[in-house]
Amino acid sequence: MKKEISRKFCVAPMMGYTTPYARKLYRILTKNSFLFSEMIATKSLIFSKSRENIIDNDFNNPVALQVGGSEIEDLTKASQIAINYNYDEINLNVGCPSKAVQKGSFGACLMKDKILVRNCMEALQNDKIEATLKCRLGLGRKLNYDFFEEFIDEISKTGIRIIYVHARNAILSGISPHGNRTIPPLNYNFVKKIKKKYPNITFILNGGIDNLDKAENLLKEFDGVMVGRLIKNNPFILKDIDKKIFKEKNRLIDESIIENYFEYIKPKLGFESIFRLLSPLLNIFFSVPHSKNYKSKINDYMKDQKINLIEDLLIKFVNEKKLN
Ligand SMILES: Cc1cc2nc3c(=O)[nH]c(=O)nc-3n(C[C@H](O)[C@H](O)[C@H](O)COP(=O)(O)O)c2cc1C
Repeated sequence: MKKEISRKFCVAPMMGYTTPYARKLYRILTKNSFLFSEMIATKSLIFSKSRENIIDNDFNNPVALQVGGSEIEDLTKASQIAINYNYDEINLNVGCPSKAVQKGSFGACLMKDKILVRNCMEALQNDKIEATLKCRLGLGRKLNYDFFEEFIDEISKTGIRIIYVHARNAILSGISPHGNRTIPPLNYNFVKKIKKKYPNITFILNGGIDNLDKAENLLKEFDGVMVGRLIKNNPFILKDIDKKIFKEKNRLIDESIIENYFEYIKPKLGFESIFRLLSPLLNIFFSVPHSKNYKSKINDYMKDQKINLIEDLLIKFVNEKKLN
């Protein structure tokens, strides 16, 4: 059965960042935030030999597996894999504008074909898992509410319950994925307006939420918020979410965070690069003055794969800097 889960605060899917290791750190820092995997192409999900490494979910629930694809059979299989790996949700990416993704016929270009997206959503749907969508407002340089509404009208026929909206258009040629996250203007009003038409669908607002006060304020008007780059740049901000958004106790930054994290990553050394294993945690140095010595020592230890020494050093760092 599908569980009722809060999506008031979601950490956006980010390729290269929301790895299983990052999600472990996020979950140590916040009990209530809803997490996402990176986007994984359905073909990789089904055929990749390193599948275990990319989708491992060590009880970091609540969490969604995001996929990119548009082949119906593959999507049905992907949904089953998400269930097998204990994900709470399978999410279809209809927002990524990159050229590679367009070549594979997935991501934002699918917004051109709302019937296909509807069929894709139906392929993902299953009694055991929530099937959701992440989309943009539309395509091209011009914002057009009617296009967005007609798109959602079609998708709503699937009975979908949750839609994440990156509240700007995608521009499919002439600008990079990075430009596609800054150049097309944001329009939160489109999301407000569609919510009025579909009060029973949960719409999660995404795009440009660059501080926690903004997130908290937007929650007065929207069902939930999804935050990407703010967390990418400083995941340790998540330690405040349970208090600020969920009115529970916040997480203190102490040595138990380091110990919990290392407990998860140590057995993976040898199967995964030490950089990928450690990079989420190394954001701990974000804007902490006088941490240069620590950083350079860690770099040296990383070259020699001295994971125990890195753990000891980071424990020393949190104890010395008192980061709370
Ligand atoms: C490095 C990076 C990778 C991203 N990868 C994905 C992805 O795999 N799937 C996806 O739906 N969106 C992806 N996005 C877009 C984010 O999920 C989010 O929609 C976007 O960054 C806007 O939110 P923000 O303003 O809070 O960053 C990525 C964004 C960044 C910065």
